[in-house]
Amino acid sequence: MADIYGVERWGDGFVCEQDNGELALLNPVNPDAAPLSLPSIVSNLEARGIQTPVLIRVASYLKHSIDHLNQCFADAIKSYNYQGAYRGVFPIKVNQQAQVIDRITEYGRPYHYGLEAGSKPELVIALSQKLSPDALIICNGVKDKEFIELAIRAQQIGFNVVIVLESVSELDLVIETAQELGLKPLLGVRIKLNHRVSGKWAESSGDRSTFGLSINQIIDVVDRLKDADLLDCLVLQHSHLGSQIPNVNDVRRAVSEACRVFTSLCGEGVPLSYLDLGGGLGIDYTGQKSDAVNSVNYTMSEYCSNIVESVGYAMEEADLPHPTIVTESGRAVVAHSSFLVFSVLEATAYQKDDMPDTEPGDHHLITDLMAVKDYLSIDRVQECFNDARYYRDELRTLFSFGNISIREMARAEKIYLHVCSLIKGIVDSEDSPPEGMEDKLNQMVDIYHCNFSLFQSLPDVWAIDQLHPIVPLQRLNEKPTRHAILSDITCDSDGKIDRFVTEDGDATSLPVHALRHGENYYLGVFFIGAYQETLGDLHNLFGDTNVVTIDFDDKGGFKLLNEVEGDTIYDVLSYVEYDPKDCVDAFKEILEQAVSDGKIGVKDRRTMMAIYKEAMNGYTYFEGVETH
Ligand SMILES: Cc1ncc(COP(=O)(O)O)c(C=O)c1O
Repeated sequence: MADIYGVERWGDGFVCEQDNGELALLNPVNPDAAPLSLPSIVSNLEARGIQTPVLIRVASYLKHSIDHLNQCFADAIKSYNYQGAYRGVFPIKVNQQAQVIDRITEYGRPYHYGLEAGSKPELVIALSQKLSPDALIICNGVKDKEFIELAIRAQQIGFNVVIVLESVSELDLVIETAQELGLKPLLGVRIKLNHRVSGKWAESSGDRSTFGLSINQIIDVVDRLKDADLLDCLVLQHSHLGSQIPNVNDVRRAVSEACRVFTSLCGEGVPLSYLDLGGGLGIDYTGQKSDAVNSVNYTMSEYCSNIVESVGYAMEEADLPHPTIVTESGRAVVAHSSFLVFSVLEATAYQKDDMPDTEPGDHHLITDLMAVKDYLSIDRVQECFNDARYYRDELRTLFSFGNISIREMARAEKIYLHVCSLIKGIVDSEDSPPEGMEDKLNQMVDIYHCNFSLFQSLPDVWAIDQLHPIVPLQRLNEKPTRHAILSDITCDSDGKIDRFVTEDGDATSLPVHALRHGENYYLGVFFIGAYQETLGDLHNLFGDTNVVTIDFDDKGGFKLLNEVEGDTIYDVLSYVEYDPKDCVDAFKEILEQAVSDGKIGVKDRRTMMAIYKEAMNGYTYFEGVETH
């Protein structure tokens, strides 16, 4: 079978297709282990009562990413004879979930891997973690006095907390707090890079970046720290280019620019010993290995080598000791580690297999539409398609002016769909179909209605057109006969996915199989461990999905490490200021009134109350067996 979904390209050591048509997970820690069938994981979870939509985290994937990042830096340090160390920190905002952060801390401890906190709550999380004594906690973001005091005091109990100055005004507060406490903080300064990157975050880099200090502000900070006798505290320089940098040369240029500022500040007597280069290490969502926005033209190893080499050169040129290199990679550490599985509830097919009959008295445009099939041939498909469209659109206009009946319009729609199916059949059977026809026909795709909320589970797909690989979990050894876009269960026209990763890179519809009666059809959305969970919202009050953390066991199966039940209706109501108990009481009163008005009997009251309470405690998503 052709690699229709590009799995071989992007699945790279994580996901593969099996001969039996099932998608399976590969064990990156043990590549020789048999792949783990995803449909069997899902049915096993369902047997335990954990229904889809479910977010599945794979512990080994997270461990593998952390090991790989640290190993790549260690290799680069060795091969360039770099004299400094590497200390990575994970930006908590990229995935704040306790299960994820706890594991990152655990897997990262051997590497002295630390955390980046962009806010007070994130610092509170960081300070609750059992980090290695050599790990860093980098505090970015806007800070008030409480944040600064907590950060400075945390040093007294053994945390290496660096307060990164994001603005000149923050400096006053830091100096004042440090002097009040009589403690010397570890300080950093965030510089604004001039280099503009390509990719989705191009607009937020360069002059238009809203973060960081310009050269003249940095000099101001240096002078004021000197005056306050705190210049010895300024140990770290920070910069961040933006997320998902597609082109490795942008990384190199940014590193060179950062080094230029770093070496100049050292020349000014600033005792910098950490060079923090922020995040931006991208992942290849499409597997194209290109500098397109959803891809990257480099490997993790190349990224690390470029950084180490560039920093090494710059320091040698300036005759300075090699600083500790810090990066704040978020996406590259967690994106691979989780995926979402949901089922298709039903399909709206852009197809009508049988042609309805016309009726005496039908408008002539209906018979014209019907007649298109009589001159349909491969040489005339374009013409037939145009004619069918024209007659259908004219009929719609007639209907809107009340000139044809609703039943005539219904027949016209059916005839149109049937003619389109015939056109599609001819085009699909041609080895070299007329140019542009396939694209046109692919616009006429089915809608697969799926049990998930885009706004809750895949907000970046909605907000920034993020592409994630989406693949059916089963029947991959069968040629997909349909093309579909996916719609979620919110009542929002934006709640749809209409861009997909396929063998050619990306496409506006997903090749899918026709649904079969009595059989669930599952889709998996991959690489969603970064940013999605916390950015998601409660549109239509669809809450958090069920979440499980699994890992490979040594018998070729999987073990369930953790389960977090998705939100119930009770939960989501309380998020939006309802007291669910008040809702129950109010409904009781309404029922009571209905009983006294004679609208229902007391038994109905009991049944309805039970249904209401059951709904209140149930999952916010479609529940039950979704068979077709
Ligand atoms: C300051 C800072 N550090 C690190 C990151 C993480 O970036 P990424 O997930 O691309 O590695 C971000 C996110 O944009 C950020 O703003």
